[in-house]
Amino acid sequence: MSGPRRVVLLGSTGSIGTQALDVIRSHRDEYDVVALATGINAELLAAQAAEFGVPSDRALLAGTRPEVLEELASLPEADVVLNGVVGFAGLPATIAALTAGKRLALANKESLIAGGPVVNAVRRAGGGEIVPVDSEHSAIYQALRSGRASEVSSIVLTASGGPFRGRTREELERVGIADALAHPTWSMGPKITIDSSTLMNKGLEVIEAHELFGVSFDQIEVVVHPQSVVHGMVTFCDGATIAQLSMPDMRLPIGLGLGAPDRLDQAFGPVDWSRIGTLTFEPPDLEAFPCLTLAYAAGRTGGGAPATLSGANEVAVEAFLAGRIAWLAIAEIVDEVLQHGTGNVDDVPDVLEADRVARVRAATVIEKRVAA
Ligand SMILES: NC(=O)c1ccc[n+]([C@@H]2O[C@H](COP(=O)([O-])OP(=O)(O)OC[C@H]3O[C@@H](n4cnc5c(N)ncnc54)[C@H](OP(=O)(O)O)[C@@H]3O)[C@@H](O)[C@H]2O)c1
Repeated sequence: MSGPRRVVLLGSTGSIGTQALDVIRSHRDEYDVVALATGINAELLAAQAAEFGVPSDRALLAGTRPEVLEELASLPEADVVLNGVVGFAGLPATIAALTAGKRLALANKESLIAGGPVVNAVRRAGGGEIVPVDSEHSAIYQALRSGRASEVSSIVLTASGGPFRGRTREELERVGIADALAHPTWSMGPKITIDSSTLMNKGLEVIEAHELFGVSFDQIEVVVHPQSVVHGMVTFCDGATIAQLSMPDMRLPIGLGLGAPDRLDQAFGPVDWSRIGTLTFEPPDLEAFPCLTLAYAAGRTGGGAPATLSGANEVAVEAFLAGRIAWLAIAEIVDEVLQHGTGNVDDVPDVLEADRVARVRAATVIEKRVAA
């Protein structure tokens, strides 16, 4: 490609967004930011637009006007759209970018989880491409370069285990918001940090991996690796396992998402072998962290189940962060909403409806609990 890659950055004020700008800041000759969007943080958005020379009609707030995400994601001049919006709100941008045949650097996992089959159909029809930004999926994307798709036996997603690794269910009855936000290895936005504490994040990533790489749920394994150095592994049919290792720094997968198949000519998070110490691996505790089991089950059910899981979880996490429910209640609420049935999703309106119904049901379950 001649000239700098033109980047549309959605969710620019968040953890992914600001780290993406950090990558671009040190590669100004290779990337040109042509549009920015965020939810409500007008002050930071304006500062970012000024720094990166983005005109004011291309630096927009989606909090009050959600349609700007779709508009910017399909800008004709964009070479790559980085979707760093949090939650289901990112779905229209994912669909718009792929419909327009763009390269989509995808951090917003909720859109792929809720609408996987629909997103993949749009990806095929529009000729767009998804490069994963989630560190685990970026690792798998990299490891897959070592063999043919038909040679893949299984993939392994690593999980740090979050702040509550090793605690029993009884001990988890009393954990609070600050405890759950204290992630041991990654610094991320609040929603994904809570998801990491419940292992719902890993569950969502299992569904994300299924949608991205076309592997069955039986081929996806989760292993707890507290050091967060090995991000993902692929085992091939001859027994060889290829892993990707780096210190926990999202700028590496963001850089690859923007530039793939080329790697960034700057190292973020290289492993220092003289200081790394011991790397350990253990199975997840499914009794203390039932969200992982719920996500596997929803993924296997398919249809509207992943959208229901993700939508109910978003509402439950918001309620936990607002101090309305206990940490253990997050999994219980998602489970209860899933029990109501989940239906099919054949198109975007179906996905929107599955999400809407899940949110209403989750809110109802929460109100009943709060009132009890
Ligand atoms: N952070 C990580 O290291 C990491 C790693 C892997 C995957 N991810 C995924 O990346 C996504 C972003 O995570 P994050 O940690 O960066 O979240 P975050 O720090 O909370 O940032 C979220 C971004 O989305 C914007 N936003 C929120 N609601 C919006 C809406 N309705 N319309 C448009 N923009 C909206 C926010 O804008 P305002 O600031 O204006 O509200 C902010 O720019 C999530 O899907 C997460 O699972 C994150």
